Amino acid sequence: MYTEISSLDLQKAVELLRNGKLVAFPTETVYGLGADAMNVNAVKKIFTAKKRPADHPVIVHIENAEQLSNWACNIPSSAFALAKKFWPGPMTLILERAPHVSDIITGGQPTIGLRIPQHPIAQNLLHLFGSGIAAPSANSFGRLSPTLAKHVAEELGTAVNFILDGGACTLGIESTIIDLSSETPRILRPGSLALTEINSVLGGCLSSQPTSSSAPRAPGALPSHYAPKTPLRIIAPAKLKKFLADSDQKPIAVLTQNEIFSENNNIRWILMPKDPIQYAHDLYAKLRSVDDGSYSMIVVTTVPQNEEWTAILDRLTKAQGR
Ligand code: TXA
Ligand code: MG
Repeated sequence: MYTEISSLDLQKAVELLRNGKLVAFPTETVYGLGADAMNVNAVKKIFTAKKRPADHPVIVHIENAEQLSNWACNIPSSAFALAKKFWPGPMTLILERAPHVSDIITGGQPTIGLRIPQHPIAQNLLHLFGSGIAAPSANSFGRLSPTLAKHVAEELGTAVNFILDGGACTLGIESTIIDLSSETPRILRPGSLALTEINSVLGGCLSSQPTSSSAPRAPGALPSHYAPKTPLRIIAPAKLKKFLADSDQKPIAVLTQNEIFSENNNIRWILMPKDPIQYAHDLYAKLRSVDDGSYSMIVVTTVPQNEEWTAILDRLTKAQGR
């Protein structure tokens, strides 16, 4: 379920976007920080608000697949096959950029990231606005993506002109990014989509190269990202007891799917869901709840190592930062 918003609020958001302002809006993955993708000065404000390096490209959100050719060129048939299967939804496609697209959007790269979100508020906004909305996640660069409107307000403050509050994002982690700009399709960032399903749409030609070897400016290439301010460590459940007993960095917040084994004032226990979909939904909100300076460290116990957990494992590893 999502929170309905009034048509007045939507109108206001559209007006602000048309006037080159920043509007945060919910998507089914995380909240985006939106600007008119055709307005270079507006897009520049995103970089300032997020303290984002200029060479880090932003995704352009569009309303339907017909708009792909407004932003990309030499679009392969695989893009339309993936679009048919997964859009609207949590998928971003990297395609060859159309000549008019600004370097500000693409970070100077010859490619562009495009996505059709499924969230009704995002869809209504795109429909009323009538053009592409550039929108990275609405957080400071390198930090946890926001899954609630209040996260955006807390983090970006007055840098964002208006926030459309759609309640909690259903998926909770960012879209799957698929690079179709070179011969072999490649995952640059795993997300909620099953890799086997993507591969079957692509006729089995998805590259099995790990994300870390991807293009230099892709999110997977950064050693630290999606990170709380508090240092985060991933610890195997079997080693947790000893780790906590030996640590001189208390108080510690522990996010675990396993049994909580001791009551100790220096340890805050957060029980995480066993189901990967629910875990992803909760992850950033739970991390934020213990990232207020009260803890010296956040410990997260290892999650299962299978396909359903790939995206969560990716985010936790990036959050740990090494
Ligand atoms: O779920 C999502 O994708 C959310 C919602 C708001 O749509 N957006 C999001 O945007 O996560 P952002 O900017 O936080 O992460 C997008 C990533 C960036 O790390 C960027 O490097 C990568 O996508 N990206 C964008 N355009 C690219 C391009 N042309 N080539 C390679 N990577 C690109
Ligand atoms: Mg982001």
